[in-house]
Amino acid sequence: AAAPLILGLESSCDDTAAAVLRGRAVLSSVVMGQNALHEAFGGVVPEIAARAHAERLDLCAEQALDEAGVTLAQVDAIAVTAGPGLIGGVLSGVMTAKGLATALNVPLIGVNHLAGHALTPRLTDGLAFPYLMLLVSGGHCQFLVVRGPQDFTRLGGTIDDAPGEAFDKTARILGLPQPGGPSVEAEAAMGDETRFRLPRPLLDREGCDLSFSGLKTAILRQRDSLVEAQGGLHAQDRADLCAGFQAAVRDVLVEKTRRAIAAYLSETPAEPAFAIAGGVAANQTLRAALEALCADAGLRFTAPPLGLCTDNAAMIAWAGSELLALGVTHDMTLQARPRWPL
Ligand code: KG4
Ligand code: ZN
Repeated sequence: AAAPLILGLESSCDDTAAAVLRGRAVLSSVVMGQNALHEAFGGVVPEIAARAHAERLDLCAEQALDEAGVTLAQVDAIAVTAGPGLIGGVLSGVMTAKGLATALNVPLIGVNHLAGHALTPRLTDGLAFPYLMLLVSGGHCQFLVVRGPQDFTRLGGTIDDAPGEAFDKTARILGLPQPGGPSVEAEAAMGDETRFRLPRPLLDREGCDLSFSGLKTAILRQRDSLVEAQGGLHAQDRADLCAGFQAAVRDVLVEKTRRAIAAYLSETPAEPAFAIAGGVAANQTLRAALEALCADAGLRFTAPPLGLCTDNAAMIAWAGSELLALGVTHDMTLQARPRWPL
C-alpha cells in the first residue's frame, strides 16, 4: 500500500505553515511569514501572531493541498504542532487540526515542534538512529542524541539566549535589518574578526552548556565606546564587530560540539552522524566549521535544505508520520502546551 498522505500544520511562533507529505516525498510546503506584522514592534507580539494564525491556517492548508494536487478527502492523517510555543498560535493550530480530523474521521497526531526539527534529517537524508543533532534557532539551542521519534537525550543547551536571538540583538544594536542572522553574516564577510576581542562564554566550563547573553552585552559596550570616541559607527566598525561576534559564536559552538561528539561516540553508534538544524544552520561560517569538525571526527555531516531548517510544516507532517508508524495518535483531549521539553 502507498504510504499515508499526511497534512501537517505549524503555528507555534510567527510562521503559519501547512505541508502535505507522502512517505518521504514532500508534495508541498507552504510557509506564510509574519515579519511585516511584527516589524514595528521589534519582536513577535503574541496576540498579533495568534490572530494571524487563526485567520490564515485554513487558507494555508488549502494552498498546501492545492500545490500537492490532492483534495482534503484524500488526507489520511492530520499532524499538528501541539507545543512548545506561543500558546495562542499553538491553540489555533490544535483546534484547526481537531476540526479537520473529526470532519475527515482520520487520526490526529500532536507533534512536539522540537521533535519536528530533530527528526527532519531522517526526512532529508535518511539518517539512522541514533544521531547527534545541534538545534540552533532564534528560540532554541541544544545538543540532542536522537534515538527514536519519541526518544531524545539532551546533552546540553543554552543557559540564556539562543544564538539566533544573539544575532538578532546584535543586528539591532548595530542598526542592521531583521532578521539579524543574514544581515550580520553579510556584514561579517567584509570584516576583520580579530579587531575586537569578544568573550567566548562558558568555554572553560565542563559539558555542553552554552551562553550567549554576555556576547550581546560585549557588542553593546563596544558600540557605545566607539560612538563615544568618534561620534558614531563607521561602516568598517560595523563589519568588524559583526565578524568578531560571528567568530565568537562559531568558536563556542565548535568547542561544545566537539564535546557533544565525544559523548555521542562513546556509545559507538553504528552509523555515526551529525545534523545541524534551525534557522542559524543557514550560517555558512558556522556550517563550514562544524562540517570540518565532523570530517575530523569521522561523522557524516548533514544539514537540511534551508526551507526545511527554519520553521515549516513538512517537518511536523514528517514527525507525525514517524509517530503514526509507531501507532501513536491523539484524541480530542490533545492539549496545546506552551512548554514541552523533549
Ligand atoms: O528556526 P527559525 O526560523 O525560527 C525559530 O527561531 O524557531 O530561526 C530563526 C533565527 C533568527 O534568529 C535568525 O536571525 C537566524 O535564525 N538566522 C541566522 C541566519 N539566518 C537566519 N543566524 C545566523 N546566520 C544566518 N545566516
Ligand atoms: Zn523552530
